[in-house]
Amino acid sequence: MDIRLLRPSDIPLIQHANLENLPENYFLKYYLYHALSWPQLSYVAVDISRPPKTPYDYPKIVGYVLAKMEEEPTDGVQHGHITSLSVMRTHRRLGIAEKLMRQSQQAMVETFNAQYVSLHVRVSNQAAIHLYRNTLGFATEKTEAKYYADGEDAFCMKLDLSFIRDQIKKEALEAGELEPTKENAGGEAADEGEPVGDVGRDPNADNKEKTYKVKVGRGLGVGELVERVETKQS
Ligand code: ACO
Repeated sequence: MDIRLLRPSDIPLIQHANLENLPENYFLKYYLYHALSWPQLSYVAVDISRPPKTPYDYPKIVGYVLAKMEEEPTDGVQHGHITSLSVMRTHRRLGIAEKLMRQSQQAMVETFNAQYVSLHVRVSNQAAIHLYRNTLGFATEKTEAKYYADGEDAFCMKLDLSFIRDQIKKEALEAGELEPTKENAGGEAADEGEPVGDVGRDPNADNKEKTYKVKVGRGLGVGELVERVETKQS
């Protein structure tokens, strides 16, 4: 099985899969809108056990995730949204949906710095709810009454993506691509050697004879606006 980015040429095939698997269907241009606006976020699962024999044969697409970034988030927080996900009956329970979702979530963070991902799911859709809640860790934020055209309610679900951001930082630190700072390491910064220079150091800390008082200010007059150094009398 190959999980790869959605290409515009796949769109008729994922539209077909969507029609087979879900009652929520979209115009072709809506798929195209996703593919052109957020080409990093939508993925397909291709069965490569029977590869196309000629260049004109279609790839065998057995699952897809269609995803986007929320364009005008009501909460002002940059986040992704799963528009549609489905796997053909013949290929279910093989972990394909989980992989598609994880790929898309990773890309949301890497490409758009998404803080979380949201989606809607029918309250009766046990398989999808298990995937979202138990496998991926989504939480139900609220129930939207009569969200679907046939009157069924939807769970509005959300997954915080900060764990992916932490993972990316950790990998970058391990690969030496990121400076180990307190913020990056989540703790004390690594000691990089001897202190350099006196900037920011407490002048009283180690040698009292080297301490100075410096008078500056208008009261000194123009001629005395040069810093005057006086040895501290302690
Ligand atoms: N009942 C209970 N749990 C299930 C079921 C099921 N029928 N199917 C899968 N699961 C569980 C798996 O056991 C697995 O759990 P685990 O991590 O505890 O082992 C988890 O869900 C993920 O399984 P996958 O194999 O990754 O899921 P799969 O590839 O079979 O696809 C999907 C799941 C997408 C829900 C599929 O059943 C499907 O296409 N259904 C029809 C379309 C659909 O409902 N799409 C979601 C609509 S919501 C939306 O699009 C935003």
